[in-house]
Amino acid sequence: MELSRRAGAAREDIRGLTDYFTSMRSMDGRPDVLDLTFGNPHEMPLEGLVAALRTSVEPRTVDWFAYKSSERAPRETVATALAAELGLPFEAEDVQMTQGAFGAIALALRLVGDAGDEVVIPQPAWPCYPSMLRAADMVPVRAALRPDTFGLDVEAIDRAISPRTRIVLVNSPANPTGRVYRRDELEALAAVLEQASSRNGRRVWLLSDEPYRRIRFDGTPFVSPAACYPWTLIDYSYGKVLLAPGQRLGYLALSPTMPPVERESLRAAALPLQLALGWTFPDAVMQYAVPALETVSIDLAELTRKRDRMLAALQGAGYRVTRPEGTFYLWSAAPGGDGDAYAAALAQHGVYVLSGRLFGAPGHFRISLTATMDTVERALPAMLGVAARAGVPTPPA
Ligand SMILES: Cc1ncc(COP(=O)(O)O)c(C=O)c1O
Repeated sequence: MELSRRAGAAREDIRGLTDYFTSMRSMDGRPDVLDLTFGNPHEMPLEGLVAALRTSVEPRTVDWFAYKSSERAPRETVATALAAELGLPFEAEDVQMTQGAFGAIALALRLVGDAGDEVVIPQPAWPCYPSMLRAADMVPVRAALRPDTFGLDVEAIDRAISPRTRIVLVNSPANPTGRVYRRDELEALAAVLEQASSRNGRRVWLLSDEPYRRIRFDGTPFVSPAACYPWTLIDYSYGKVLLAPGQRLGYLALSPTMPPVERESLRAAALPLQLALGWTFPDAVMQYAVPALETVSIDLAELTRKRDRMLAALQGAGYRVTRPEGTFYLWSAAPGGDGDAYAAALAQHGVYVLSGRLFGAPGHFRISLTATMDTVERALPAMLGVAARAGVPTPPA
């Protein structure tokens, strides 16, 4: 039997990542493997998460495990929390509960996108976007971020927009760079999207991928694009802040500044579309747990310690690291200039990182700071050694 074109295209666009993921899974639990690859937990789950799940699994009514769509209580909780966090008047009806950010992105693409529509993605970027677009019969179009700072390059986005562009996708705090975009960058983007919409005679939407919104360092402020551009859809996941990506929970939220006609039609279309996509609501237990989960977070102080340790050690050894303002990743130019060769050299020492090629930047690499401090410490000697062998000049002390 022949594969559908859609499935074939989705597979090709994500093959590098799925191959790597499978090979890392085959090494799970090996003590000699220092795994700095994916944002997975390396320590026992947060107690607050476990307590919330325990309480939520206990049935209190006959319909506890009946079909659940986007339930009223979690939507209200999310709307209230979002309003406080982003300073915008979200209502429960603006919030659609989904299976993580993955589910929310898939929903957003199909709410406003049609087959053949183009989606502009600033690069480097999370590797899953292109294959998710292919599975929706949509077309990824890459636009570069600023080469040194990885800030938004609004002119590059403008150049990437065509008459077929339907969505521009922005991810802040950004995976893999750790950048949090500033209000002036987002306002400049909003102006470009407004002009492009009038030029095209068709709305260009903004999809704001914000699963790392609550993981920020040094009090870095967060501005959602939803505050700058009314035609914004926000997707969120609890998987990052709870460090439990296997428990699928997230949402898609409409910017409350959206004109009422569009806001109403998206609100009304979401439920039938989620049904049509395969009942893509989160499980009942996850929805009951939302109020309790809103108050649980990974240990940001410990994460900051790991970031600071890694940052200082790598910068001291001459690495050109981007200082993360958010997320739990660290992004750096690869010593020697080739992310694949660098990752392979480290793997010889049992240290695993992701080559920047997976993110569209082959000269870089990414590490995940969800590894333990012990792993960070044990990985550093190999990282410093590989840099020294690549002839990276160390900065003066
Ligand atoms: C930028 C970005 N968006 C979306 C997701 C998907 O998140 P989830 O698996 O929690 O749905 C991820 C996960 O790594 C991500 O890094």
